Amino acid sequence: MINKKIGIIGCGNMGSTLATSLIKKKLFPKQNVFICDKDKKKIAQLKKELKVKSICPSSELVKEADIIILAVKPKDFDVVLHKIANKVGTKKLVISVAAGISTSHIEYFLGHAAVIRVMPNLAVVVETGMAALCKGRFAKKQHLSLTEKIFRSSGKTVVVPEPLMNAVTAVSGSGPAYIFEVMADMIKAAMKAGLSRDVSEELVKQTVFGSAKMVIAGKDAPSVLRDRVTSPGGTTAAALKHMKKHHFAAVLIEAIQKAKRRAKELGR
Ligand SMILES: NC(=O)c1ccc[n+]([C@@H]2O[C@H](COP(=O)([O-])OP(=O)(O)OC[C@H]3O[C@@H](n4cnc5c(N)ncnc54)[C@H](OP(=O)(O)O)[C@@H]3O)[C@@H](O)[C@H]2O)c1
Repeated sequence: MINKKIGIIGCGNMGSTLATSLIKKKLFPKQNVFICDKDKKKIAQLKKELKVKSICPSSELVKEADIIILAVKPKDFDVVLHKIANKVGTKKLVISVAAGISTSHIEYFLGHAAVIRVMPNLAVVVETGMAALCKGRFAKKQHLSLTEKIFRSSGKTVVVPEPLMNAVTAVSGSGPAYIFEVMADMIKAAMKAGLSRDVSEELVKQTVFGSAKMVIAGKDAPSVLRDRVTSPGGTTAAALKHMKKHHFAAVLIEAIQKAKRRAKELGR
């Protein structure tokens, strides 16, 4: 258990999920977890579910907490930074999960504060998230380790240099949406092939789950596993040949490059 006080500003999808994992995994004592949100309904719901304390406004929460997680949308980010600017000092750790907001932008408001930027993904909801972390100018190794510990309560972590955060956003941040898109299309295709919706969904869900598990559990690369399913002249070969003919790989690579470019455009 980490014997520090942690406060979460912004308790929407990401903030509430993080608060829930911290409490469920007993990473912090319950009385050391504080929440703050503009939306009183979200606060009331979380207080009821997790039995944590709310401290609002955010400037008051920052005074109380040793670690502050900023989980508001990028459009609301600077308002929060303005509000907490004089309260952070140099002893607290500030963790931002906002897409596209650089550590230097946060330091511009917060001075010499220790800042860690994190890009998690939505799979934190099922404790199978992927979070990439990078360090600001004034953050030390121990701040990075502490942040890794926090995000490991809801999945895996990697550390990358900050210039690679846009690439991370395009791969694992947006990544769940690509898989959901493929799954939705596979379900459509299954139904077109004559299967009921229920059976189609079951087939696709378990196939994606099993395939991901094989890649994660095994020593073989996805391309090796693909070849193991594909016998020459067989059914899988026919499907893969069609994908190749229509440049499936090139489309995917270009799509991820587009997402990376968009992350750069939206960044500050
Ligand atoms: N969701 C994801 O998959 C995901 C993945 C990676 C990173 N992120 C990052 O996580 C952050 C939060 O995303 P989200 O999807 O959780 O957004 P969200 O569901 O909209 O949650 C943000 C919450 O912050 C509240 N808020 C806004 N301004 C505030 C303020 N000044 N003080 C206190 N609370 C305030 C919002 O209230 P109102 O609704 O009333 O405005 C809302 O409840 C974003 O920066 C996003 O880039 C999200």
